Amino acid sequence: MEVEVTTPVSESPSQTWTPQSWHSFEAKQQPSYRSPEQVESVTGELSGYPPLVFAAEARELRRHLAQVAEGRAFLLQGGDCAESFADFNANKIRDTFKVLLQMAVVLTFAGNLPVVKVARMAGQYAKPRSSDTEIIDGVELPSYRGDIINGIDFTSAARVPDPQRMLTAYNQSAATLNLLRAFAQGGLADLHEVHRWNLSFLENNPQREKYAQLAERLQDALEFMAVCGVNSDNTPAIRETELYTSHEALLLDYEQALTRTDSLTGKWYDCSAHMLWIGERTRQLDGAHVEFLSGVWNPIGVKVGPNMQPDELLRLTDKLNPNNEAGRLTLITRMGADTLGEKLPALVQAVQREGRSVVWSTDPMHGNTVKASSGYKTRNFDKILREIRDFFAVHRAEGSHPGGIHLEMTGQHVTECTGGAWDISEADLASCYRTQCDPRLNADQVLELAFNAAEWLRAGRS
Ligand code: PEP
Ligand code: CO
Repeated sequence: MEVEVTTPVSESPSQTWTPQSWHSFEAKQQPSYRSPEQVESVTGELSGYPPLVFAAEARELRRHLAQVAEGRAFLLQGGDCAESFADFNANKIRDTFKVLLQMAVVLTFAGNLPVVKVARMAGQYAKPRSSDTEIIDGVELPSYRGDIINGIDFTSAARVPDPQRMLTAYNQSAATLNLLRAFAQGGLADLHEVHRWNLSFLENNPQREKYAQLAERLQDALEFMAVCGVNSDNTPAIRETELYTSHEALLLDYEQALTRTDSLTGKWYDCSAHMLWIGERTRQLDGAHVEFLSGVWNPIGVKVGPNMQPDELLRLTDKLNPNNEAGRLTLITRMGADTLGEKLPALVQAVQREGRSVVWSTDPMHGNTVKASSGYKTRNFDKILREIRDFFAVHRAEGSHPGGIHLEMTGQHVTECTGGAWDISEADLASCYRTQCDPRLNADQVLELAFNAAEWLRAGRS
């Protein structure tokens, strides 16, 4: 890896943008901290801390994403809805890492495309909320906004936004990233191991017949390579992998503090993660989040919900990617399975017509959330799968590349989304419902999803 030192020297890529310029725009979804002095003291401390990622790594990811934009690779992005300070341990990080790799192997093989892996990890701590307050049994308290801002317990003390939490988020992100880097380079990512995990997933799966053929073809390919002398000892590509990090750039005080000038290029990078995205609730053209991310050179994403109009989308791509560079901008559509077929074609047509280079990715989670009668927020596996299937179909019809999938998922065996081969019912949700925020696909569901998506990816390319 190219080692590059980033220092907080100021040099702006545009006339007016600075890491602070977002302050002159309306910033939605920010906490009301009680003490501005405390915020200043924490962000001052953070801006002296080492960057979490190197600018050169973010550039490398941008290069990979340019290949996705050009139809020569596929993006797999996934992880928790919200990471948690309390539920922070090696096994949890390892299990999500493993399942991301398992999915990537299936998608690479069946789709016959390299897969760019981006985790929603090592910084995914801030959550936008539909309502500023939450009412339980007649008691109204400020909403939980993610562990980087306040606590999840339903007490008034926990819900007070605390700037010190930014330091904990930084430290936990650093530790998570450290372990991910070790896993990626240190032997856990060996292709043969990953394939063995997939076989054991299939062994126990009630629908194993459906996926067996693909697994056998993959087994044959690995054996063929071994016979040819290509193995983990002599081929780093079999032994190691690249995994990038990402989160929603929601808490702008934190993102600003981690923004540094790259000493090699003189450009600004938000060094809290390789890729940052703007959420559906904060993507206003004249808003602070769009202003902030418009000035950093990381690859960035923006969520695109069912109310987005083609015109507005074009203006947003103009603002976020004025030079129309491939790999800079990922549009993450999150329409809902019942709405995508109606809304997505016009957006794709507008982007195609105007020759804008983007990565199209689908988030089949956020448009398909429902409340079960038991009160749990949930999402149904078939509906999630249907949004992905229709995403592939629309792009095929429009002649554009269905570039990626963005998922809320975990390697743990939770019961948060209904359906899948194990047929989790609404009544099962209570048995292992652990999420801090939105319901995630569990390890079995997410692999089953990868086997299905891989077939559609292959069908679309043949
Ligand atoms: C999210 O990805 O967790 C999220 C809040 O998504 P959206 O902004 O699309 O609602
Ligand atoms: Co979510």
